[in-house]
Amino acid sequence: MTQNLEGRIAVVTGATSGIGAATARKFAADGARVAVLGRRKDRLDELAVEIGAIAVPTDVTDRQSVRDAAAAVRAELGPVDLVVANAGVMLAAPFESAEADEWDQMVHTNINGLLYTGRAFIDDLLAAADAHRPADLVHVGSIGGHTVFPNYAVYTATKAAVAHLTRNMRAEFGPRGVRVKNIEPGFVGTELGDGMRDQQQRAGLAEWRTQMEILTPEDIADAVAYAVAAPRRVNVAELIVVPTAQG
Ligand SMILES: NC(=O)c1ccc[n+]([C@@H]2O[C@H](COP(=O)([O-])OP(=O)(O)OC[C@H]3O[C@@H](n4cnc5c(N)ncnc54)[C@H](OP(=O)(O)O)[C@@H]3O)[C@@H](O)[C@H]2O)c1
Repeated sequence: MTQNLEGRIAVVTGATSGIGAATARKFAADGARVAVLGRRKDRLDELAVEIGAIAVPTDVTDRQSVRDAAAAVRAELGPVDLVVANAGVMLAAPFESAEADEWDQMVHTNINGLLYTGRAFIDDLLAAADAHRPADLVHVGSIGGHTVFPNYAVYTATKAAVAHLTRNMRAEFGPRGVRVKNIEPGFVGTELGDGMRDQQQRAGLAEWRTQMEILTPEDIADAVAYAVAAPRRVNVAELIVVPTAQG
């Protein structure tokens, strides 16, 4: 599926792997100019060369790092009109044995990082909307924001927060022409969860991923590209994309 993203200037956080990398590739293939953000500079540089993007090493949990990234993107590409706040971490553990620093990392990345990203680029998006151009702030939530998974309470709570934050931001920015949207994937084959300390949960996640035909990152990238390429009057506001077999 090819969408027309000619003339769009896009930022994707968490672009060093998985859904973010696939989304950046898709945007570039569909004609957008792209900035890729993440912490692992070697991977960013490699992707940037591959797709003709600019690489901006960024830690989304650090407000100043995100502000600096926004300034660097603006200086290189100009004001952006398409932002994908995708960076996220998932660290599962039974509540009673969980390490609080893993909770902190999820809250800081999945909620604060997403907020800092939107805040750093919102003036650009409002300016694009004022100029009657498409303007998109895409949040990557999760089906976990709607369902229950034992041992994933904090992760799923961060994604429920993203869902309600998105609805409220939509109410705030929709009337001003900025489309705020939440893309909520089910199981996708990525590096998500690789960093979790609890060995049993990590093995359980690997097992789940073999029990059905799960999605590829490109499946989600296609859905994002479809949503942002819609005519300006259309906001594909909430998009759940799950493996058919996940139900
Ligand atoms: N895979 C799934 O089944 C699934 C399902 C539902 C929702 N999601 C959501 O999809 C999003 C992308 O995840 P993924 O599945 O593609 O996982 P992934 O392959 O692990 O990618 C996560 C990305 O987030 C970045 N990231 C993490 N912490 C960061 C930080 N502090 N600052 C900047 N970037 C940071 C990572 O880059 P660096 O480590 O280089 O910084 C990486 O590029 C997440 O929000 C996740 O919750 C995934």
